[in-house]
Amino acid sequence: MSLKEKINPSKLPQHIAIIMDGNGRWAKQHGAERIYGHENGVKSVREVTEAAAELGVKYITLYAFSTENWNRPQAEVIALMQLLVHTISIETATLNKNNIRLLAIGDLKSLPQDCYHELQEAIEKTKNNTRTTLVLALSYSARWELTDAVKQIAEKIENKTLSAKDINENTITSHLSTAGIPEPELMIRTSGEHRISNFLLWQLAYSELYFTDKLWPDFRKEDFYEAIIDYQHRERRFGKTSEQLIS
Ligand code: FPP
Repeated sequence: MSLKEKINPSKLPQHIAIIMDGNGRWAKQHGAERIYGHENGVKSVREVTEAAAELGVKYITLYAFSTENWNRPQAEVIALMQLLVHTISIETATLNKNNIRLLAIGDLKSLPQDCYHELQEAIEKTKNNTRTTLVLALSYSARWELTDAVKQIAEKIENKTLSAKDINENTITSHLSTAGIPEPELMIRTSGEHRISNFLLWQLAYSELYFTDKLWPDFRKEDFYEAIIDYQHRERRFGKTSEQLIS
């Protein structure tokens, strides 16, 4: 029985979020510059997107560039942005062919203009696709997102379109950049690091976390299947007892 066949289609996560980590270390192991690792990471992006679409996972969110990544050496930031623009422009046709919608979350206005425009164009061109949604987190951090949500809510209170007593969890959820997207049931992080690193802090409240030592450029469909199988063996209690779940 192949790994893919071991996946129970009736217990598939709707949304899987991924921290793609280890590109730099992978490049070092290959005696190359860091950007070589990012370039090879694109193949893994294709693999998981394709695997998600084939399995019927409705949302995949990839942490492609964090707010903190702006502090990396400028040459790496520029090379990474060029890689993103290039990849997005050449992959739009494939996304359409496979009925995959592209979305992006984060402080998108802080991206270089060409990157921002390429992204908006790809989002527009794929907006009617329905099979799977690929969400790129770009210039994203959860603290930025939560701060932004608080600002939006405060403005509504200031102009009296919202009253403080009516604020509940849904108010917060609907002001995040992920509004309308279900919470990830599973979060995968590669490269052996066991951290959330300012990624989807609100949305991951009840997610199952899966860590693998594989470096991102080595991550393939089989690794993705393994993570899903591991998830399917977990008991998700949401604060209840095991007995309550059975009854
Ligand atoms: C983390 O590895 C990876 C990134 C900061 C960038 C990930 C981006 C890509 C794989 C390109 C994606 C392209 C698209 C279209 C989504 P790291 O550099 O932190 O590795 P290290 O921890 O080994 O140094």
